[in-house]
Amino acid sequence: MCYAIPGRVVEIKGRIAVVDYFGEHRNVLNDFIDLKQGDYVYAQGGIVVEKVSEKYAKQILDYWKDKFFQLKRVDQKISERKGKPNPKLKNIFEKAEKGSILNRSEILELIRMENKNEMETLFKFANGLRQRYLKNASCVHGIIEFSNYCISNCAYCGIRKDNKKLIRYRMDIDEIVQIAEHAVNDLSFKALVLQSGEDPWYTTEKLVEIIKRVRKKCGVLLFMSIGTRSFNCYKKMYEAGARGVLIRFETSNPDLYKNLHINSKSDFNKRLELIKYTKKLGYVVATGFLIGLPGQTEEDLINDVMLTKSLNPDMYSFGPFIPHPETPLSKAKTVDIETVLKVIAVCRLLDPNAKILVTTALETLDKKNGKRLGLLSGANSLMINITPERYKKLYSIYPNRAGIDKSVKENIDETLELLYSLGRAPTDLGI
Ligand code: 5AD
Repeated sequence: MCYAIPGRVVEIKGRIAVVDYFGEHRNVLNDFIDLKQGDYVYAQGGIVVEKVSEKYAKQILDYWKDKFFQLKRVDQKISERKGKPNPKLKNIFEKAEKGSILNRSEILELIRMENKNEMETLFKFANGLRQRYLKNASCVHGIIEFSNYCISNCAYCGIRKDNKKLIRYRMDIDEIVQIAEHAVNDLSFKALVLQSGEDPWYTTEKLVEIIKRVRKKCGVLLFMSIGTRSFNCYKKMYEAGARGVLIRFETSNPDLYKNLHINSKSDFNKRLELIKYTKKLGYVVATGFLIGLPGQTEEDLINDVMLTKSLNPDMYSFGPFIPHPETPLSKAKTVDIETVLKVIAVCRLLDPNAKILVTTALETLDKKNGKRLGLLSGANSLMINITPERYKKLYSIYPNRAGIDKSVKENIDETLELLYSLGRAPTDLGI
């Protein structure tokens, strides 16, 4: 099983290593490893995670050589431009093509689009842009949900403190380390997201211990997704070897944020400052928002997209809000999948080099096609849930999550089959 292809270091420029994948070059950050030109490495999320021997690398590259070019041809074919945009759309596309930033009214035009053919033209264009800028590279990260305890009370979230019906679980340190080790050493993941509710049982010291132990045993990019914690906690986790954070600002509208976090410690400004701080520390930052929150306007949605872009994220992570029966928003409407796909396309047009995630919530809106549709609308990154089945069902941020009824192996096989059918290869996307 392979979610990463090793590359050869062709140049070192300070902390940046230039890595070659079959003639394509990517810049990656090297923090941990003593590297020289000619070394072979695995990189993920734009970070070198492991050095491998030339003999091993050549074996893998040999396996990939023909397959890689074959996949590229499939991707190229699928990404060919089709459909004739109307004059307004044509203008917008030309602007995006030149790398100019779309203005608010142009974004609004795209978000409001309802005509099916026009939407199809937009998705195709966004996918074509992804292909021209980043080729067929794709990120596949594994996510481990290690605790569903939460001191926060977000109105949209099923694991909120006030949901007394939920059976709570919390993995101990040994268990987390053992699952992470299995994911890297047996399942071949090169990037893992450790996610939980806001659970203070995991003190900074405990988190540091987890990170250090995983990093000692595995070459892996570790993302922490544990919500609002102190600056010091994020600093200590960075020092321990974590290099990614996944933390959404949820909505760019401070009033809406406030309404959704009544009786909760969550504070909009604190959260935003924290995201900026983690970026400054040098983390690979994945951030974004929820689409379709009750009370969210089109203006808010545009601001959400613009705020994400202004944070200069390493990965866009946004998804539809899906009402949970045990929350105050249980009666709210679920947003339609087209809106989510339009937002993916808009983000691609605004940021052609971006890593854009297909989230599980999008998959949940259309379990059969959601992932594929996201990848064909401008997205290029995926997460596979590797939380053990006994816990996965309890990590109920929203109901009926995609993949919940499948084993880890089924999820992995299905995802790889989909990626290959679309011509995507697991070369790193670089920074
Ligand atoms: N629907 C979709 N996503 C949700 N999240 C929380 N509740 C829901 C919901 N009902 C998302 C939040 C959070 C992430 C871990 O899960 O954006 O940051």
